[in-house]
Amino acid sequence: MKNILFVASEGVPFIKTGGLADVVGSLPKCIDKKYFDVRVILPKYTCMKQEMKDKLEYVTHFYMDFHWKNEYVGVLKAEVDGVKYYFIDNEMFFGGFTPYGDNALYEIEKFAFFSKAALSILPIIDFRPDVIHCHDWQTGLVPVYLKERFQGNEFFRGIKSIMTIHNLKFQGKWSVQEVKDITGLPDYFFTSDKLEAYKDANILKGGIVYADAITTVSQTYADEIKTAFYGENLDGLLRAREHDLRGIVNGIDYDEFNPATDKNIPHPYNAINFRKEKVKNKTDLQKELGLKVDEKKMMIGIVSRLTDQKGFDLIAYIMDELCHDEVQIVVLGTGEERYENMFRHFDWKYNDKVSANIYYSDPLSHKIYAASDAFLMPSLFEPCGLSQLMSLRYGTVPIVRETGGLKDTVEPYNEYNSTGTGFSFVNYNAHEMLGTIRYAEKIYYDKKREWNKIIDRAMATDFSWNVSAKKYMEMYDWLIG
Ligand code: GLC
Repeated sequence: MKNILFVASEGVPFIKTGGLADVVGSLPKCIDKKYFDVRVILPKYTCMKQEMKDKLEYVTHFYMDFHWKNEYVGVLKAEVDGVKYYFIDNEMFFGGFTPYGDNALYEIEKFAFFSKAALSILPIIDFRPDVIHCHDWQTGLVPVYLKERFQGNEFFRGIKSIMTIHNLKFQGKWSVQEVKDITGLPDYFFTSDKLEAYKDANILKGGIVYADAITTVSQTYADEIKTAFYGENLDGLLRAREHDLRGIVNGIDYDEFNPATDKNIPHPYNAINFRKEKVKNKTDLQKELGLKVDEKKMMIGIVSRLTDQKGFDLIAYIMDELCHDEVQIVVLGTGEERYENMFRHFDWKYNDKVSANIYYSDPLSHKIYAASDAFLMPSLFEPCGLSQLMSLRYGTVPIVRETGGLKDTVEPYNEYNSTGTGFSFVNYNAHEMLGTIRYAEKIYYDKKREWNKIIDRAMATDFSWNVSAKKYMEMYDWLIG
């Protein structure tokens, strides 16, 4: 039996702000329990839902040296679908209304504490991982601490680590002086071949330098981040480590996202009966959201964090033009105020065509995947993207920009040889996107049989974890040797 430990800042079903939580919640379940004992460590946030907090069981607590103080470290546990979860409790660090705050320095302190605590609890819970699998900058100090500070202890010697990049944009950067103070790491670590980058300390960089292997969540993103445009100033380092860097595309939980059994949608359907059944979800949603009820009208869904990563500048630019087409646009999500207000504005201006739902709701997201004809995701960059996978699963045709995981998972429609599962465009250009949307409209309205065949192919793709979980297992085996 080999032991694998996930360390992450969020995970479904306990706490979620984005796709990271979906991956941390679904991948461990798909790692073969005959060969691997997989456990997960998360922070115990005060803002977790009460029903989740009620599931946690106290294990122990102790005090840990951190940032010149002796800090309380509580340990709790829970088990979900055969996966054991541990939670690090400290209400000072994890007591906010949301998992992440906007004080960058404090975020570094919080997750430095989390990273050190995650290692410190291992001897106490008597779990010695063969591999620690770290996710995003919040856990970037785990490989660093592991390689140096904890090496004095026999227990930690030989433990391997993996750094998975879900989003290179967030790195955890602050002045060297203060990060040195917080982490307790000596000068030695703050040189340009280690944690220092462009005069600052950079936590993710530390993780990338010290991890035994680096992964990211699609092959195209793994290639892209070695270039200046996508590399977020770490492309040089990623090129230097390219032999240890691989792209493994994310999957989604095919039980949770299944149009045939989904409890959130009024009219379940499958790959055989979608031609009759799927549209009933559309008319229901039109009623629910106050849009014009018309089963023929093409509905375009958007479910997303409203950040510039997701390409909303392109949408804002052509929204007026698009709204003159025969389409309905349904939006769900929160984020940057400028995008929230943009959608509110168009909802007001084109009330029977646009429905802006500026909040987050899991049930409504499922209804939108089921009801929409197309799903729009024109990201500026996209490490993997999960919504396009959910769309494919629900027979909702994705319209995407060819970047990162979007490029790897959506095959562009080709009308000459009748292939493809969606529509895509290359350049980050609003009218290139609009042209692609209009091409999709044309197929939808004028060639319905072709459109339905795109849906056939979309629903026949397999982006469950089957294939990708195997790749992670192979990597664990290879690292352990
Ligand atoms: C981040 C990325 C997204 C990816 C997700 C899970 O949210 O932006 O592309 O799918 O992490 O890996």
